[in-house]
Amino acid sequence: MAKLDAIAVKLSGAAPHSLTAAALALLVHEEDLAAPGGPLRAVHAALGPGLRALMRAEQFEGKAGQQLVAPTFGRGRAGRVLLLGLGPRADDAGAAAGFEPLRMAAGKAARAVTAGRLVLALPEVPAHHLPAAARAAVEGALLGAYRFEAYRSAKKKPPPGLDALTLVVPAAAARRRDLAGEVALAREIAGAVGAARDLVNLGPAQCTPRLLADAAARVARRAGLACQVRGERQIRSLGMGLFLGVTRGSAEPPRLVTLSWRPRGARAGARPVVLIGKAVTFDSGGLSLKPTDSMTTMHTDMAGSAAVIAALRVIATLRPAFPVIGVFGACENMPGGRAYKPSDVLTAFGGQTVEITNTDAEGRLVLGDVLAWSARTFRPAAMIDVATLTGACMVALGPVTAGAMGPDGPVIDGLLAAARRAGEDAWRLPLVEVLKEQLKSERADLKNSGDRYGGAMSAAHFLQAFVGETPWAHLDIAGPSHAPKERGYLAAGGTGYAVRTLVEFVRGWTP
Ligand code: BES
Ligand code: MN
Ligand code: ZN
Repeated sequence: MAKLDAIAVKLSGAAPHSLTAAALALLVHEEDLAAPGGPLRAVHAALGPGLRALMRAEQFEGKAGQQLVAPTFGRGRAGRVLLLGLGPRADDAGAAAGFEPLRMAAGKAARAVTAGRLVLALPEVPAHHLPAAARAAVEGALLGAYRFEAYRSAKKKPPPGLDALTLVVPAAAARRRDLAGEVALAREIAGAVGAARDLVNLGPAQCTPRLLADAAARVARRAGLACQVRGERQIRSLGMGLFLGVTRGSAEPPRLVTLSWRPRGARAGARPVVLIGKAVTFDSGGLSLKPTDSMTTMHTDMAGSAAVIAALRVIATLRPAFPVIGVFGACENMPGGRAYKPSDVLTAFGGQTVEITNTDAEGRLVLGDVLAWSARTFRPAAMIDVATLTGACMVALGPVTAGAMGPDGPVIDGLLAAARRAGEDAWRLPLVEVLKEQLKSERADLKNSGDRYGGAMSAAHFLQAFVGETPWAHLDIAGPSHAPKERGYLAAGGTGYAVRTLVEFVRGWTP
């Protein structure tokens, strides 16, 4: 499993071609080619006319996603030069969108390094955007170096990959404190996102509810957070009948985990931000069994909880002035002989009854109990759940965009703004009132699945029934939690989506 924290990162104001490296990567906007100033001119001067000829021959124009790799044949200090296109310059819009194209290009550059150091030259950006751009570049490069090799036998191990990164910025900026701060944060975030990806990529035989609880406890120990792990007996005595219903068909014992940052000297009544993750370590669908092809990625159905654990790890280093609590109910959804059944009626924490019409709508059951319990126990100022909740959300928004839902207010606004600053793609879906009809039951207070149309929103309506008046938003990450193949700074598999958004939310939250 990748140790992204072990990759050394430094800032430099030197000319990029003067630095020794396995590869020198230049991130270039289309405009940089017409008037090649800055790093590009220096590189042309060092390498002679060959590079410019190659750029012309290969029609490299700095378009977004374009890439050119050239050997230096000993003319520079770097083994290879990489040019990565960022598309047209869009200074303020680019900054508002979290410099995502830059992050993607930096990831690609890192992936091209089979061993050694990458020197990465930032494009010219306005001085006040430099910290955010540097952060995006470092996050992208470190995450691009991520690999999951836990299951690869010794003979098939790939080369070691990137081991050091030098980020080249304008000489006048290299010693700026704010820049160093953002680079340090980028390293924290990349390390945490890598850890989240590791949890998501593990198979369900390893990544059990117990392992997730242990992972949270380990993070707590290292980061100085409090952690509480509850087992089946305690979950029962809390009255979480929906959660327990889901766990019944599985041989793996469930866990209810809380992970808390409590600032020293906080007022006793200070209301926390509560982050809740879906933690189904394998979703077979239960007796409403999934077809084979839909089941092969269901070890990733705990991605929400991985993001929450990772976000708390970063938040502990940010030391916010208000409490932040992570919560997840971990279990499997399996069709064992004692499994809950369609037509069962379960009683939730707080007393509402739910008729089970589809055992594959299990995430909302576990979350319903955890949301209701968290709302009552912690009296949150803001509560956000992150969940691989519905295939319908992917039908609505495609595979890379999360669906954000919730009543109007500072939580949904803060969540969408945070996603945008973090460079993670999220889009709001409306909680259309008439969809509530889909959840009416003839036999109980609610049923757990509606019909096919509007499935992401009816799922959110179900959750809302357990939230009460607590300020809340829901983020459906069924699509972006997982990448079918590598792209930019993403490797195939778990993406660690939502770690950055949750961290940004807490950074932007004012109690
Ligand atoms: N874990 C799935 C949702 C999912 C689907 C995540 C595809 C990632 C990729 C969830 O538990 C589920 O099965 N949802 C059902 C709900 C339905 C039964 C109402 C779905 O989306 O089909
Ligand atoms: Mn399911
Ligand atoms: Zn599920």
